[in-house]
Amino acid sequence: MKNLIVYYSYEGNTEELVNGMKNVIEADVLKLVPKKEKITKNLFRFIWGGMQVYMTKKPELEEYHVDLSQYDNIIIGSPCWFGTYAPSINTFLSENKITNKNIYLFVCNGGNLRNTWSDFEKALEGNKIVSKIDLVYPIKNGIEVSKKQINEWIQKSLLK
Ligand SMILES: Cc1cc2nc3c(=O)[nH]c(=O)nc-3n(C[C@H](O)[C@H](O)[C@H](O)COP(=O)(O)O)c2cc1C
Repeated sequence: MKNLIVYYSYEGNTEELVNGMKNVIEADVLKLVPKKEKITKNLFRFIWGGMQVYMTKKPELEEYHVDLSQYDNIIIGSPCWFGTYAPSINTFLSENKITNKNIYLFVCNGGNLRNTWSDFEKALEGNKIVSKIDLVYPIKNGIEVSKKQINEWIQKSLLK
């Protein structure tokens, strides 16, 4: 069974967790990188991010190559943005028709996931969503604890 991790991370939380996971499972990793991204720590990131979410934007991604037919299990990691998954994940899901896969979802967030799971379920119809987990501010709340949690989760979930 071949595994693929696809993720987007703006502030590094999702990426830290992916880096941890790479030590405990065998997986190819695809990092989604938008061509244009405003990296800022100030409040402008919420205005910019909010515009993308509410206008259901699909930001253009840096070129990537993936042959999804190779994989049985797809692990998708995203931050929660305004109650849903990040716009770059939106681009990826609309550029790639994913069907008949085992899906594992993890979402970094600040405690308010709102429609994130139901939006993922809608976008991934025709697949089996095996397991999902959300982690609240992993870096702020202690990255090692979060890494342990996600590593245990993915190992257990892949055995299901
Ligand atoms: C534009 C933007 C919108 C966000 N919206 C939400 C939200 O609706 N709910 C929530 O719980 N957290 C929200 N957050 C917090 C992030 O989900 C959280 O900080 C997450 O850990 C970031 O992951 P990353 O470091 O991989 O980008 C938002 C953060 C940003 C930058």
